[in-house]
Order: sequence, then C-alpha cells, then structure tokens
Amino acid sequence: MTKVLVATEKPFAPAAVDQIKKIADQAGFIVMMLEKYTNQADLLTVVEEADAMIVRSDKVDAAVLDAAKHLKIVVRAGAGYDNVDLEAATAHNVVVMNTPGQNSNAVAELAIGMMIFNARNGFNGKAGSELKDKKLGIHAYGNVGKRVADLARGFGMEIFAYDPFIPRETIEADGVVCVDSVEELYRNSNYVSLHIPANEQTKQSVNYSLLSSMLSPAILVNTARKEVVNETDLMKVMEERPDFSYLSDIKPDNAAELEEKFPGRCFFTPKKMGAQTAEANLNAGVAAIRQIVAFINDGDTTFQVNK
Ligand code: 3PG
Repeated sequence: MTKVLVATEKPFAPAAVDQIKKIADQAGFIVMMLEKYTNQADLLTVVEEADAMIVRSDKVDAAVLDAAKHLKIVVRAGAGYDNVDLEAATAHNVVVMNTPGQNSNAVAELAIGMMIFNARNGFNGKAGSELKDKKLGIHAYGNVGKRVADLARGFGMEIFAYDPFIPRETIEADGVVCVDSVEELYRNSNYVSLHIPANEQTKQSVNYSLLSSMLSPAILVNTARKEVVNETDLMKVMEERPDFSYLSDIKPDNAAELEEKFPGRCFFTPKKMGAQTAEANLNAGVAAIRQIVAFINDGDTTFQVNK
C-alpha cells in the first residue's frame, strides 16, 4: 500500500490536513504525518517507509533521499523548490513537483499588506503615505507577480514589470508597463516587489547598483527568498539613503543590525508566512496529494520540475 509522508516543519492548517487524508484514503493510500519537527533526524527515520512525500519549505537533501529507500515522488506544496536537491532526487529516480499558483494570492496579499503597514508607519497613528500613484516594479511576472499587479491596480499604483521569460503581450494585456531590463525596472520604481526564484542566477542579484537607483522614497518588498538580496549592499544603501525601507517575509541574516540601525525602516515577519493562510494551505495541500495520486496511479508527470 502506498505510504504518503506529510513532512511539514511549518504545519498545514487542519482543514488542509483533513482533505489530504480524505483524498489519500479514497485512493487507498496511507498518510503519515510529521509536523513541527525540530530535528532532521526525525525526518530521516520516518522517510524510510515513504513512497511519496509532501513538503513545504522543508529541506529535502541528499541525506533525506539516501534514507528514503522507497521514495518515488516529492511534491513541494508551494511554488519555490530551492529546498529540494533536484540533482540528488534525479540520481535517486525521484520525481519532484511543485504546485504552481496554489498559494499565489496569499503571498500577493502579504506583499501589499506589508506595503500598507509600512506606508502607515506600522499603524502608529502618525501621518503616513498612500500607495496611490506610487510606482511599483514587479520583479518577475509569474503567478505571484501577476496577482500583486491585480491588487496594486486597485490601489491606483503605476505598475511596471520585468520578466524575460514571460511574453511582453501577456504583461501588457494586464495594463502593466513591460520594461526591457532589470535596471530600467528599479530606476523607475518607488516600490519593488520581488518574485524571482532563488537559483544560481538570481542569488545575491538584487545588488547595490539596482537598489541605489530606485526612486525616492524607495521600498524593497521581499516575499520571495532572502538569498536573492545582497544583504551587504542592502545595508550600504540603507546607510546612504534615509528614504529607503526593506520589508521582508523572512528575516535577513543581518536583521538585528538592520533593525537597530534603521528603526521604522524595516519590517520582517518572524517566520515565512506569505503562504500561511487556511485557503493557500488547502489549495496547495490538495493539489499536492492529487498530483501524487495521479502520478502513482497513472504516471502523470505534469508539474515535474526535475525533467
Ligand atoms: C512558496 O515558495 O510557495 C512559498 O514561499 C511558501 O512557502 P511555505 O510553504 O514554506 O510557506
């Protein structure tokens, strides 16, 4: 009988877990739960029995794959799969999938929410500013970037986007100005919202020259991955520009120093929470178990990312 391990250091909402179990049950699969684990050793023990696995940002590295003797598929319930060692998975004949689009709205709402929180000084009662008529640069126009544009339009922001992988017509059809280079995006924006994945090309790529070129005031909003921002460069820009703020859905490595030096100009969620809504958990969790059932029963490899 197929055993599906749900290994979530940051658990799904209960309704999502119920649905995952229900769909697995209908397929005749058994679900094993490992939630809120603090020790990778716990995962290494329980993964031994699993034929399939659902994770969130949980690390699936060579050690996990070595321990997973029966594993055929890992589904990352979410968009970014930088937590999964794709090469090691391929070497172990394990299919890796993500569930694109399922948590995009939740992440986009957090990006806009952080912008408003910052514009209104953390709701401290002092005069703030408005998003209306501010220039927003969307760095990568995938599912989340597109949704941020939809929401920002409602706030009356002027929206620009850069994404070399998305056709210009797709971006322009949304009433968004498609710019030709990342440099053009940053130098035309008050707000830049990051939606690039973390990979060898993008890590550390949001650097001094881009950040220092932003319009005034400048607000960098990161609901992507902390690794894409060069934190040394960010510190330098924040030192040089009192009009620069950094809002991020996960603490940068130099968070304590940033918070101490620039009070009111940075905001970091205590734990990555962009996708942490009941709705997003349900969408992504259900998609993940459905993809596992379709793969095990019918060999369906739609959404495989290690082809
Ligand atoms: C994603 O890549 O889908 C988001 O960053 C969500 O990550 P999470 O599942 O750890 O909340």
